[in-house]
Amino acid sequence: MCGISGIVSGENVAAKLLSSIQNLEYRGYDSCGMAVLNARGPVVRKNVGHVADVAEKELFLSLEGVTGIAHTRWATHGGVTPANAHPHLSCDKTLAIVHNGIISNYARLKAALIKRRHKFASETDSEVIAHLVEENRKKGAPLERAFTSALKDLEGSFAVAMVSIEAPHRIYCGKHESPLILGLGKNEFYVGSDFNAFIEHTKDAVVMDDGEYAVVSDHGYEVKRIRDGKPVRKTIMRIDWDSEASRKGGFPHYMLKEIYEQPETVRKALSVSEDSIVGLAKGLTGAKRAYLTGVGTTYYAAKVGQYYFASEADLGVPAASSDEFLENSPLAKDDFVLAVSQSGETYDTLRLVREAKKRGAKTAAVVNVVGSTLSRLVDQVVLQGSGPEICVISTKAALAQMIILMRVAIEAGRMNGRLTPAEKRRKTAQLEALPALISGFLNEYSGLFHTIAQKHASRHNWLFMGRGRFYPVALETALKVKEVAYLHAEGMPAGFLKHGALALIDDTLMSAMFVPGESEKELHRMTMGSVAEINARGGRVIGFHFSKSLRGSKLFEDQVLLPSAPPLTSPLVALLAGQLLSYFLATVLGRDVDKPRSLAKSVTVA
Ligand code: M6R
Repeated sequence: MCGISGIVSGENVAAKLLSSIQNLEYRGYDSCGMAVLNARGPVVRKNVGHVADVAEKELFLSLEGVTGIAHTRWATHGGVTPANAHPHLSCDKTLAIVHNGIISNYARLKAALIKRRHKFASETDSEVIAHLVEENRKKGAPLERAFTSALKDLEGSFAVAMVSIEAPHRIYCGKHESPLILGLGKNEFYVGSDFNAFIEHTKDAVVMDDGEYAVVSDHGYEVKRIRDGKPVRKTIMRIDWDSEASRKGGFPHYMLKEIYEQPETVRKALSVSEDSIVGLAKGLTGAKRAYLTGVGTTYYAAKVGQYYFASEADLGVPAASSDEFLENSPLAKDDFVLAVSQSGETYDTLRLVREAKKRGAKTAAVVNVVGSTLSRLVDQVVLQGSGPEICVISTKAALAQMIILMRVAIEAGRMNGRLTPAEKRRKTAQLEALPALISGFLNEYSGLFHTIAQKHASRHNWLFMGRGRFYPVALETALKVKEVAYLHAEGMPAGFLKHGALALIDDTLMSAMFVPGESEKELHRMTMGSVAEINARGGRVIGFHFSKSLRGSKLFEDQVLLPSAPPLTSPLVALLAGQLLSYFLATVLGRDVDKPRSLAKSVTVA
């Protein structure tokens, strides 16, 4: 949820820390702060607001020192106030900590610390960590043990980094169920919630596991077990994301940049090894019960997958949202759960996968972030290789996940004889044609979506509809419009209209219909039937369709004739239309596109 960063160097760290939390800002952005050690102790500067503004107001760059930690917050415990921003200090102000996660027993710990005369400056759960370490020091524990003993007292999830005047060239950090990664530079070492914290400086990293802590200095690092202090040998990982990929590259927003990167991310998804695809297909087809899961956009990606498993492989593979899964789906030994996640750190999805493993189910995942918790937890992982997705709104990662699920569905169809090898080749060729189709679409259609957004941005209520594989596209588009344009939008199967939603139709509600191509005769006919039903009740419809014959149709107030695509890939073209519409609605309305209010990129809390 939050982003944490730390640097120990031979030179001043303030500028690098600032750029590090700017790169982590998508993890949380309601407040931020940093603590840099000088000869008298950690100097803390923090406030509410975006990093660039706080940095200017609080003069981050005037801080001097070679060791520091920093944080960008997404509030959980305690409101968005300067006091609740991190870092947090101990009473004697000799040490400062930053934390990501939730300390579930903090109230009890805080009460005990208050009894021992500790004074708290914030309402956060995190601040207890600073006081616990201080208390352990008072009792005579050396600093390192004071730190690990404090970690042992914590319940819940945490990634913590600490600096102390007692160890001016060290950062102490540790984790349980929240991500923490070390970056290995030359006479400069880094701590971060993810690679973006230090990707500008090094590609060599060590991914910390639950129950581990590290002591990091300007000439090295040691990783040990929190439980007993025993050293742990870690593998150094080379990250192939480059820092350039994390920059906006001339686009006004990361969201637009990432939408435009989709031809490349689709290519990457198509180049995921055949072995990995076959492995997932075998897992799904061989299991007693198989499920797809994710949450938010990745649930909708899983839902897209469900439709393709039915159409390409005749397989019923239900998609269940990971936050609801355990309540609505039976799960036991020999079941198979395929989870989808961009970050690989999403609490709901991790909780489900951990439970699945406990029950003896086989687990697999399609994940974007290399080294993420999910990627290391599951039995089989497929890395989608979409590169860093910085905008909080997921676009390129979601499309790549859908492509991978489609490939698995096609392979499963080939395995069980639903598709002949020739049909598999034909469908694969259709997928391979997508990057060029997407490039053309983005270049030719962006202007049109901008115009439509300008015309309709004042509509507060939207209903996105589709049938068949266009239904999850409608769900995903509605989510996009909610999260980035802050407009009320619902996604619905068009077939539901006459079962209730027709009562809503009037000229204030904007309906948007994704219409399948005419080759899908029945679906096309029924979808157009729904458009007519809306019209008959004085409703207004924007149509996204593939039919030249509908050009000029009076049934649509506005319409977009999408570029022709075969039934296999046409829902993905519709998905791009939804992405562009939501992006331009957001820009017309002046929304904070890359960092929409109240959201965070990776939701690592319950
Ligand atoms: O990192 P994940 O893919 O597991 O994240 C899941 C959701 O939190 C995420 O897709 C969320 O819905 C995004 N804001 C969608 O744009």
